[in-house]
Amino acid sequence: MTDKKIVFSGVQPSGDPQLGNYLGAFKGWVQRQTEKTNYFCVVDLHALTVTPDPEDLRTQTRELAAILFASGIDPYQSTLFVQSHVTAHAESCWLLNCVTPIGWLERMTQFKDKSQGQERVSTGLLDYPVLMAGDIILYDANEVPVGEDQKQHVELARDIAARFNRIYGDLFVIPEPVIPETGGRVMGLNDPTIKMSKSYSHIRGHAIRMLDEPDEIQRSFMRAVTDSGNEIRFSDDVEKSGVNNLLGIYKVITGKSESEVEKDFEDARGYGDLKKAVAEVVIDELSPIKEKYQELMSDVVELDRLLKVGAEQAESVALPKLSQMKEKMGLILS
Ligand code: TYM
Repeated sequence: MTDKKIVFSGVQPSGDPQLGNYLGAFKGWVQRQTEKTNYFCVVDLHALTVTPDPEDLRTQTRELAAILFASGIDPYQSTLFVQSHVTAHAESCWLLNCVTPIGWLERMTQFKDKSQGQERVSTGLLDYPVLMAGDIILYDANEVPVGEDQKQHVELARDIAARFNRIYGDLFVIPEPVIPETGGRVMGLNDPTIKMSKSYSHIRGHAIRMLDEPDEIQRSFMRAVTDSGNEIRFSDDVEKSGVNNLLGIYKVITGKSESEVEKDFEDARGYGDLKKAVAEVVIDELSPIKEKYQELMSDVVELDRLLKVGAEQAESVALPKLSQMKEKMGLILS
């Protein structure tokens, strides 16, 4: 019997993974994987909510899995799998739909943002956080390490789990969101007032994509929006959000404290030096990941085998939990 905490987290195979995904999520998953029992999931069913091109979705699912392994997810320490390979996820979503008031979903900020101005909004987009709740609770996850933008969804998962427990009797662990102190909200380089996002990664200078070439990374950082001053320090002032973002990226990658980071730039001759230094640490961090990624993508048969092993491990946990759910709800088990 182990008393390791259980961790579940996921990422959508939609768009190119970017530095915010890496610093807000993947890096922390890798760093803490030996202390925990981990389930990491490429959530292809979630990606369907924006009707991707089918061939693109298949390609991006494998690419994202390869990026996660390349970032350091160790298949012997952690279970990494594709969501649709474990059918309990879609099934648990239906069961949880039946205990989730629709108003809870309508008030989700991400739903409001994504549905705004759309002529047609799919039921899947509204239901998205219920599928996410199923992901988490099937594994009795105690901790859900995510960036700040997913906090509201994890809180909803807590509410759904608690409501199920109240109606049908205790079954689910109530999960906690775990958000990194720095890196939980990496901002766009072209506009440091909005979150860096895969959805805008086609806009020049907005995001650093994890597979960008070093010279592209360098160029994006050199173009990053800052302010008209020259003070290199952490700050909550909106005006200094560009500099604050660059310092935050540098801090998470180097693992230094705020004062150590500020000391590194004491003798800097302006923001150009800061941008150059941040670009350098990011390039050094991402280069070996890219190399490993290319190696993994050159053997798709092996990659698929690793994902199959992951799905089998995940299913061995998720299926018994799903059966318990069904039993509590009054379904006859076949
Ligand atoms: P997704 O695919 O949008 O993002 C994956 C992870 O990256 C984090 N992230 C960021 N962190 C810091 N700064 C940013 N600019 C930034 N952009 C993205 C996200 O917060 C997330 O942790 N719904 C989820 C996927 C999901 C999931 C789950 C997560 C499905 N089921 C169960 C946890 C548990 C999503 O769309 O993440």
